[in-house]
Amino acid sequence: MLEQSETIPDFPKPGIVFRDLTPAFADPETFRAVIDDLSAAFAGTFDAVAGVEARGFLLASALAYSTSTHLVAVRKAGKLPGEVLSEEYALEYGTATLQLKPSSLRAGARVLIVDDVLATGGSCRATARLIERAGGTVAGIGLVLELTGLGGRQALSHYPLHVLVSEPA
Ligand code: PRP
Ligand code: MG
Repeated sequence: MLEQSETIPDFPKPGIVFRDLTPAFADPETFRAVIDDLSAAFAGTFDAVAGVEARGFLLASALAYSTSTHLVAVRKAGKLPGEVLSEEYALEYGTATLQLKPSSLRAGARVLIVDDVLATGGSCRATARLIERAGGTVAGIGLVLELTGLGGRQALSHYPLHVLVSEPA
């Protein structure tokens, strides 16, 4: 289903193989199939959808719209004004920080986290921590492509996980 995705070696750093799913998401039938699959996998278990900046936003907005649930933006550092929660995490290449405005989440919200690619799991794990610190619960984590062998599934073992496609990193 991801035939139109692209694999770019040595981006953004030498030794890193970059998987870009945006060409696949550009195809209307593929994008609809992805959103419908994620929606069905977690049907009835969530009332908010959190997207991980940036490519997770593509999925989260469509999923929140199609399921009439709340849309939550988990952003990279320095983008959100006012009171924010921060979680530093390790990427496949370097470290980064994700942030969440606690006011963007209602107390007790059941939040589905979505993102395009699972590599080390650092981004989704940091997002899960932010949601829990803000008073929500993680209903599950939905991903389109799992790159196996990088420990991502193990890092997220506390949460219901659904991936559409798995392949070796
Ligand atoms: C990529 C990808 C996932 C994350 C996966 O995002 O979109 O969010 O890395 O890696 P992990 O499982 O090791 O955390 P990236 O931050 O590179 O860029 P983006 O802003 O284009 O989404
Ligand atoms: Mg990303």
